[in-house]
Amino acid sequence: MLYIRVLLAVLPSALGWATGPQPGQIKNLVTFGDSYTDVGNPADGGAAWPAYAASYAPFALYPYAKSGATCSNNLTDRPPPSVFEGQIPAFLAEVANGTAKLNMEETVFTLWIGTNDVGVHELLTNQQTPGVTLVNTTRCAVNWVSAMYGYGARNFVFQNMLPLQLTVLYSNYSYPNRYWTLQRNTTEWNVFMTEITNTGNALSRLMLEALAPALPGAHIGIFDSYALFHDMYTHPSAYLNGTAPLNVTGCVNSCVFPPNGNVSDASSASCTVAEGSDRDSFLWYDELHPSEQSDRVVAREITAAIQRTSEDWITWLS
Ligand SMILES: *[C@@H]1O[C@H](CO)[C@@H](O)[C@H](O)[C@H]1NC(C)=O
Ligand SMILES: *[C@@H]1O[C@H](CO)[C@@H](O)[C@H](O)[C@H]1NC(C)=O
Ligand SMILES: *[C@@H]1O[C@H](CO)[C@@H](O)[C@H](O)[C@H]1NC(C)=O
Ligand SMILES: *[C@@H]1O[C@H](CO)[C@@H](O)[C@H](O)[C@H]1NC(C)=O
Ligand SMILES: *[C@@H]1O[C@H](CO)[C@@H](O)[C@H](O)[C@H]1NC(C)=O
Ligand SMILES: *[C@@H]1O[C@H](CO)[C@@H](O)[C@H](O)[C@H]1NC(C)=O
Ligand SMILES: *[C@@H]1O[C@H](CO)[C@@H](O)[C@H](O)[C@H]1NC(C)=O
Ligand SMILES: *[C@@H]1O[C@H](CO)[C@@H](O)[C@H](O)[C@H]1NC(C)=O
Repeated sequence: MLYIRVLLAVLPSALGWATGPQPGQIKNLVTFGDSYTDVGNPADGGAAWPAYAASYAPFALYPYAKSGATCSNNLTDRPPPSVFEGQIPAFLAEVANGTAKLNMEETVFTLWIGTNDVGVHELLTNQQTPGVTLVNTTRCAVNWVSAMYGYGARNFVFQNMLPLQLTVLYSNYSYPNRYWTLQRNTTEWNVFMTEITNTGNALSRLMLEALAPALPGAHIGIFDSYALFHDMYTHPSAYLNGTAPLNVTGCVNSCVFPPNGNVSDASSASCTVAEGSDRDSFLWYDELHPSEQSDRVVAREITAAIQRTSEDWITWLS
């Protein structure tokens, strides 16, 4: 047993494998996910994090994330292109017609998914495909790594779920908003979401640790969005820099709807909107999404992780 452990420990370095890509190796950023990552339809009132990361590094950017997406419509059916049924096929089509011409050694693939899979209209409110649980949605996200490996990808950054229970939507002090106006017990949602994010992230870590040795030549990193956002929430002055009082419980664009109101009818809502440099004081843009300043922080930290100048929020498993 000891021999096997020693062998497993020395084998990667003996064969020249190291964990993570080399500094300077990565030139292309290919992103998958939902509105947290959607460059064409940024949900933070400014530019999405991949646009910042592409300019900070710089990287050539190939963005496939789409607002409203989940991992798979088999599990959690929603109109926007899901990762498996919409985004991966879009990527493959662009590889096939030469739009995405990538040297895989120089390319990192990222996935930030789960927010819609576990939230309102899906797991939280029991509207997923019957029988589907957090195990299915987590396995689906981890399967993205194997699927993309099959298509030649070798460098992966898996962004785990941020602490969704700290968003306004899932807080215990929530109010009827653009994502949910029906009556609910906000304490119960907050407790349930705390369980979901912690359990899902623990599960994805275990699944990725089990997967990593089976994908030779791959570099797989877990980017700990949960820990980063938790740190921003508890130490806002280290991250937020706007001109209003720092604010981690409200949002830049806060709209209170009438109870049971029509979420599509914005005119029925009463909104409080921060403008200009005040916006960078907020952790959240609206009741569900990170602010642009939070996204700059995500971009800065992911870029540093990929360029190997920081290991603060990433764990390279291979
Ligand atoms: C979704 O279901 C179809 C039909 O059963 C299957 O072919 C496909 O592989 C499934 N996709 C995922 C991501 O499991
Ligand atoms: C390549 O395929 C993508 C996805 O189908 C499409 O949007 C794009 O216009 C195509 N580009 C060319 C040059 O054919
Ligand atoms: C969900 O996972 C369970 C096992 O955990 C499996 O039996 C079931 O088929 C999965 N559902 C779907 C739709 O993939
Ligand atoms: C929310 O939970 C916190 C921590 O448990 C508690 O201090 C606070 O009073 C609660 N707020 C509401 C509105 O329930
Ligand atoms: C909401 O749920 C909490 C936790 O289950 C419970 O203690 C509380 O009484 C509920 N509030 C209402 C108004 O039902
Ligand atoms: C935080 O922002 C909300 C608007 O979403 C506002 O109502 C609240 O007063 C602000 N809190 C602080 C401490 O400025
Ligand atoms: C909700 O508001 C939208 C936009 O104003 C409107 O088209 C729709 O008919 C409304 N739905 C209901 C049920 O009133
Ligand atoms: C806050 O810092 C970011 C860099 O992280 C900068 O782009 C932005 O302009 C700053 N905001 C303000 C209001 O100074």
